[in-house]
Amino acid sequence: MTNYRLALIPGDGIGVDVTDATMEVLRAAARNRFTLEAETFPWSCEYYLEHGQMMPGDGIETLKGFDAIYLGAVGWPATVPDSVSLHGLLLPIRKAFTQYANIRPHRLLPGVEGPLKAEGFDILCIRENTEGEYSGAGGRVHMGQDNEVATEVAVFTRKGVERILRFGFEQARARRKHLTSVTKSNAQKYSMVFWDEVTKEIAAEYPDVTVSHMHIDAMAAKMVMAPQDLDVIVASNLFGDILTDLGAAIQGGLGFAASANICPDRTGPSMFEPVHGSAPDIAGKDIANPIAAIWSGAMMLEHLGEAETAAEILSAIEAATAQGIGTRPGSHSTSDITAAILAALEA
Ligand code: NAI
Ligand code: MG
Repeated sequence: MTNYRLALIPGDGIGVDVTDATMEVLRAAARNRFTLEAETFPWSCEYYLEHGQMMPGDGIETLKGFDAIYLGAVGWPATVPDSVSLHGLLLPIRKAFTQYANIRPHRLLPGVEGPLKAEGFDILCIRENTEGEYSGAGGRVHMGQDNEVATEVAVFTRKGVERILRFGFEQARARRKHLTSVTKSNAQKYSMVFWDEVTKEIAAEYPDVTVSHMHIDAMAAKMVMAPQDLDVIVASNLFGDILTDLGAAIQGGLGFAASANICPDRTGPSMFEPVHGSAPDIAGKDIANPIAAIWSGAMMLEHLGEAETAAEILSAIEAATAQGIGTRPGSHSTSDITAAILAALEA
């Protein structure tokens, strides 16, 4: 029987609750098909307060040997600044393992009433995760003076743009075969014109996938007016960041938004995590919705090659929401929702 080695980083706040719920569901779904061997790492804000760092110096080295990483959520702003928790754990992991594709499925689950009439809304947002507007290139000069200058340079490399688009086309091929590339090439005449050119080149390799080009502002409107017309969306780091918050809102909120940081070349482990944070306001109350986390766990199994089991978990989530379980904030506890999903898996 195949055994998968998972590194679990539950993190802070509700990250811990939803990681527990996820592992319970994944183990039940694995049944006697494969085994999950999980090692838990206590890297979190609490760990930081004790050790002065979010993870040990050899943390990345340690994670290297795992088949996948599962993360709950990190952050406890009352004691540790968010810049520390983010830059000390999440970002180094994404960078070290070249997880250049941040993917988020947005879909309205049965029984969930989003803010829009979005029947048939089912998209996959693919965000470039390593460069672009968040490359960190730039600087500040003449600080504090009236001629002060700040620059933030968006960096787009041929390698970076080609690989994210190729990944997007592969995903589109496995879905409804439509890809929308999001840019702003009317205003950003170097980077985004370049992105458009690369899109055309890569599209030639995928004649079975239809391609649309949209500007980010028009895309924002499209996602509200006709989200059901979209399938796979590929966007830069900044644009993808914004569109995925919009996608999460349309699907009913953070309780449902799953994500993965994928290293498509498989040179290192990929990392799976719900989009939401540690939610200090509801931590320890057994009211966090675990659906986003469990869905992210299903994405992990799919990535590991267990697509059938992943699909069963998704069906179990849908069976639970179709009965109205976990569809509205506060309607059910974390444990009730988890139990309903487990029961649906059994059925
Ligand atoms: P948040 O996502 O933790 O919470 C925002 C709001 O959504 C809160 O009212 C919360 O109660 C609610 N919420 C979030 N997840 C929920 C769930 N599963 N079920 C029900 N309600 C849910 O974002 P916030 O408050 O901005 O950040 C809190 C901490 O989390 C910060 O330290 C932040 O840096 C960190 N964070 C970490 C992330 C990560 O680990 N990837 C992502 C986002 C934030
Ligand atoms: Mg965001």
